[in-house]
Amino acid sequence: MKRVLLVASECVPFIKTGGLADVVGSLPKYFDKTKYDVRVMLPKYLCIKEEYRSQMKYITHFYTDFCFRNQYVGILEMEYQGVHFYFIDSEFYFGGPWPYSNMYEDIEKFSFFSKAVLSSLPLIGFRPDIIHCNDWQTGLVSVYLNDSFQGDPFFRGIKTIFTIHNLKFQGTWAIDTIRYMTGLSDYYFTNDKLESYNNGNLLKGGLVYSDIITTVSKTYAEEIKTSFYGEGLDGLLRARSNSLYGIVNGIDYSFYNPETDPDIAVCYSSEDFVEKKAKNKAALQRELGFEENPKAFMLGIVSRLTDQKGFDLIDCVMEQICAEDVQLVVLGTGERRYEDMFRYYADKYSDRVSANIYYSEPMSHKIYASCDAFLMPSLFEPCGLSQLMSLRYGTLPIVRETGGLRDTVEAYNEVDGSGTGFSFANYNAHEMLSIINYAKKVFYNDKAAWTTMQKRAMEKDFSWNSSAREYEKLYDKLLDPSGDKEDETNML
Ligand code: ADP
Ligand code: GLC
Repeated sequence: MKRVLLVASECVPFIKTGGLADVVGSLPKYFDKTKYDVRVMLPKYLCIKEEYRSQMKYITHFYTDFCFRNQYVGILEMEYQGVHFYFIDSEFYFGGPWPYSNMYEDIEKFSFFSKAVLSSLPLIGFRPDIIHCNDWQTGLVSVYLNDSFQGDPFFRGIKTIFTIHNLKFQGTWAIDTIRYMTGLSDYYFTNDKLESYNNGNLLKGGLVYSDIITTVSKTYAEEIKTSFYGEGLDGLLRARSNSLYGIVNGIDYSFYNPETDPDIAVCYSSEDFVEKKAKNKAALQRELGFEENPKAFMLGIVSRLTDQKGFDLIDCVMEQICAEDVQLVVLGTGERRYEDMFRYYADKYSDRVSANIYYSEPMSHKIYASCDAFLMPSLFEPCGLSQLMSLRYGTLPIVRETGGLRDTVEAYNEVDGSGTGFSFANYNAHEMLSIINYAKKVFYNDKAAWTTMQKRAMEKDFSWNSSAREYEKLYDKLLDPSGDKEDETNML
């Protein structure tokens, strides 16, 4: 049995701000349980719903020196849908109303978490062969493991994997501050280790000290080796390219399932979606106060409202997107200027633009189920899960060809009728607009091609089935490097 500990700052159903939570919450369910014991360790935030907190069982607690204070560290555990979860308790650090606050506080909080993860291992009766970390919040796990923990034989030989979900966020701050908070010595703050452009950088620590680096699509794994996508770390990623793998995310097919989804008006499958998806569309049109019109081209957006997701392109041509034959429904929160932009247009065109500036899981499902197309013109997209959810619900994605969007959405080809959506290459608002208009043309003038694509999209398999196998192969390779001498490439 191979033992793996996934460590992350968020995970459904406990706490979610983005796709990372979906991944950490669903991937562990899909490993071969006869060969891999994959458990998950998370912070026990006070803002986790009481419904879950009340099910957590106390294991033990201890005190650790951190940031010149003696800190309480509690360890709790819980079994959920067949997966074993551990929670690190510290009301001092995890007591806020939201998992993240400002970068300065977050760096201290997650440095504490990374150290506490390691310190708790000898006390939980589970010694992982591999610690699998995710994003900058867990960047210091492999650094601490390499540092003081090597003095203890318990920790020697534990391997580490670091998965990049988003290279944009790195956890950087002045070196003096990070050195003070983390207790790491000067040795670590040189440009081949945690120093990056004169600052300390926690993500870089994870990239330098982990045995293997992965990211969440093959295209993003290539893109981050270039200066455009590399966020200043492309040189390091090129240097580590022999240890860098791209494994595309999946989604939880039991949760995002139009056949059983309790949040949508009428459930449907790839056999009967034409009529039943129309009923969902009518229900959402009623709910939003739009005209109940099956012919209107209903376009959906569910997203964090940030530059990453291409909202400046949308801003540029919003007037044209909101044409009379379009109904646009947006669900998202984020940067004020984009929230205001959608509010403005929802006010101006209240019959056909709906701005839902809040977070709601049920509303997101209604949008995935009801719309004809889903817009996601990202500037960069490590993987993207929203387009996978849209595909699963037969809502055709319109995407920019970058990262995971490029790897998961196949552009419509009118010559042979193939494809599962629409895409454009350049980060250009008019290129995006012309592809939206092209999708509209196909929707209005070639219903047969549109429904064939919908069916194909629904039948694509973006569950974890194949990607979990790829992680298993990577775990095997890490624990037995001699086992696959044949495998010269890092495309598993
Ligand atoms: P990212 O992680 O970069 O935000 P992903 O596409 O990987 O993007 O994942 C986004 C996840 O968050 C999806 O599950 C999406 O449905 C969800 N989501 C984003 N905004 C909202 C919102 N306002 N309400 C409900 N779900 C949302
Ligand atoms: C990040 C990325 C997104 C990815 C998600 C899960 O939030 O922005 O593209 O799908 O992580 O890996």
